[in-house]
Amino acid sequence: MRLLIMGPPGVGKGTMAAYIKKTYNISHISTGELYREAIARMNSLGTLAKGYLDRGELVPDAVTVDLVKETLKKSEYKEGFLLDGFPRTIPQAQALDDILEEKQWKIDVVLNLTADDETIIERITGRRICSNCGALYHTTNIKPAVDDICDNCGAALFQRPDDNRETVARRLKIYREQTEPLLEYYRRRGLLRDVDAEGTVADNIKEVEKALGGFNDND
Ligand code: AP5
Repeated sequence: MRLLIMGPPGVGKGTMAAYIKKTYNISHISTGELYREAIARMNSLGTLAKGYLDRGELVPDAVTVDLVKETLKKSEYKEGFLLDGFPRTIPQAQALDDILEEKQWKIDVVLNLTADDETIIERITGRRICSNCGALYHTTNIKPAVDDICDNCGAALFQRPDDNRETVARRLKIYREQTEPLLEYYRRRGLLRDVDAEGTVADNIKEVEKALGGFNDND
């Protein structure tokens, strides 16, 4: 199964990706996560990407396309993957088409998560992440048992540097201008499935399951 998960920043893509990964035993590739790992390692990709992420801007297409191209060469993605945060522009979508065509692979479903801007801002500004295992929490919606400590592994939680109101406003603006037009790109091909992500995580899972109806890990 090859899936794309799309939607505005903070709508819950990472949360649903974790569920899909576990339930369908599918590899998860998040371009945002790849950039954050590169920044933590302080390698040349991280040095290049840091300013863009801190400002809430998109890293240039050529850089991101190369990153995805290299990542998809790994054998673990042969059987399928869930691509989260890519493509985000029309040129990225066209580049993905070329990469897939070369490998004779095709996308099965594009999930499009939707929620109001108010919900999104509340989710992003309250997000906390485990510094060790990456588990996602929220200061009011999804609280850990002990404040600022991960339930799974006991490590400290942190807040992403781009999770502040000013940067979120920029990320949302860029999403509307550059990423939203992509929805039509996939809708025209009959691949897009809308997912109402306004409710609780449990509600969102039900919506994702509805949208994925007909697919299983043998597809
Ligand atoms: P990326 O990491 O992809 O960030 P994003 O798209 O802004 O998405 P987020 O990770 O912020 O949110 P999410 O939708 O995954 O929500 P989550 O599940 O965490 O990209 C970061 C940056 O990298 C970009 O700005 C750009 O600079 C660069 N980049 C990445 N890809 C690129 C590309 N293709 N091209 C160029 N640049 C690129 O949920 C959010 C919070 O809400 C959490 O706290 C969660 O616990 C909570 N929550 C989730 N669901 C619910 C619910 N149903 N109810 C209540 N709370 C909920």
